[in-house]
Amino acid sequence: MTEIRVLTDDAQYRAHSTLFRRAMHWGPPTDDQWKVTQPSYEPGRVLAAFDGDLMVGSTQTFGGTMVVPGGAVVPHSAVSRVGVRADYTRRGVLSGLMREQLSTLPDPVATLRASEGRIYGRFGYGLAGRVRFLRVDARKAVIPGSPVGRVRMVDSDTAEKVLPELHTAFGLGRPGQISRWHGWWVRAFDRKGDFENLVTVVHSGPDGDDGYVSYKVTEDKEFNHHMEVEDFACANADAWRDLWIYLTRLDLVDTISVDAALDDPVNWLFEDPRVVVTKDVFDQIWLRLVDVPRMLAARTYGPGSVVIEVHDKLLPANDGRYRVSSDGVERVDAPADITIPVDLLGAVYLGDTKFSHLAAARRIEGSRFDEADAVFASPVAPLCSTFF
Ligand SMILES: CC(C)(COP(=O)(O)OP(=O)(O)OC[C@H]1O[C@@H](n2cnc3c(N)ncnc32)[C@H](O)[C@@H]1OP(=O)(O)O)[C@@H](O)C(=O)NCCC(=O)NCCS
Repeated sequence: MTEIRVLTDDAQYRAHSTLFRRAMHWGPPTDDQWKVTQPSYEPGRVLAAFDGDLMVGSTQTFGGTMVVPGGAVVPHSAVSRVGVRADYTRRGVLSGLMREQLSTLPDPVATLRASEGRIYGRFGYGLAGRVRFLRVDARKAVIPGSPVGRVRMVDSDTAEKVLPELHTAFGLGRPGQISRWHGWWVRAFDRKGDFENLVTVVHSGPDGDDGYVSYKVTEDKEFNHHMEVEDFACANADAWRDLWIYLTRLDLVDTISVDAALDDPVNWLFEDPRVVVTKDVFDQIWLRLVDVPRMLAARTYGPGSVVIEVHDKLLPANDGRYRVSSDGVERVDAPADITIPVDLLGAVYLGDTKFSHLAAARRIEGSRFDEADAVFASPVAPLCSTFF
């Protein structure tokens, strides 16, 4: 029988980090790695499972905010560092950690990235957002016209100062985007190993700085140069286009890899839209509605009205029927159009998945699925460009 405890001191945090890393088949943190990992340990947000004095399971959250359809911003927990010692798996350690975490989360919504697709549905997380991995053939990429603003390269000290401000100002433009915490930036600015060669450029338009991109270029044995875009945010279409012009006109770059939302129109920039290839579409945002009434009320809706009956085994306060329409959300006794478990409500919440698709797959029951699709539709696809 394991006991769940909130960790409080640095030695325990480092043991927690070691446990998680070992679960992922990585070695324990070196002193240098720990220096940039330690700041992401926030008091009160770090849980561990113990068998006696032995730490056997780990998880933690990072606090911040998330954007929902319609643009409202809600408090958000980013769940991370989930691991169980290999000699303690499949004995309910993760289940105990998840139950404790959910019952004590201070925020109405939580998201995570899943190492495997079958783990988190049982805890009420649904697959709410996917990402496209794009590759651009930079040698053939021609964007007609000239830039309208100015792109300047900044040194790492300047990047460290301005990027958090710029990300807060315009990095949250899509549903699913989350604010970044201090410890996240500490790791992002650790210009060692893979990131030694990271370059940042900032775009400015008539109203000042309005876009940035961080990238690194590596050379393979055949002298081909590959760029990976690590971070890309902009406030408007001019900044976005100018930054792509900059990236595709750089000398000695053969290919550019970038993560993008499903509806990112980047291929329309180029004379030949085939220079952009989708290498993969992968699940990204797993979303848990912790406080269903609050989260339903937080987003906007399309035309129509639908009554959904929500079932939540772990947080039964969420159980109930809700009428959802563009006029708002209310709890009702009226018969439900659709019955849905909380993980699948999480899956439709950001607009990535449709009720009609879940119904076709026999995952939900009811009627009026097309109407529900129209109510929950989001004009913008979700994305979370903050890895955690
Ligand atoms: C994934 C992991 C945390 C699960 O921990 P655990 O303590 O074994 O999980 P539990 O015993 O509480 O399992 C709960 C349920 O989930 C299922 N489950 C757990 N991990 C699973 C996996 N990887 N694939 C499929 N099912 C899984 C269990 O079979 C169990 O199902 P049941 O309730 O029907 O019996 C652990 O195996 C681990 O640390 N893996 C390596 C690191 C990792 O992938 N971490 C997640 C990062 S996002």
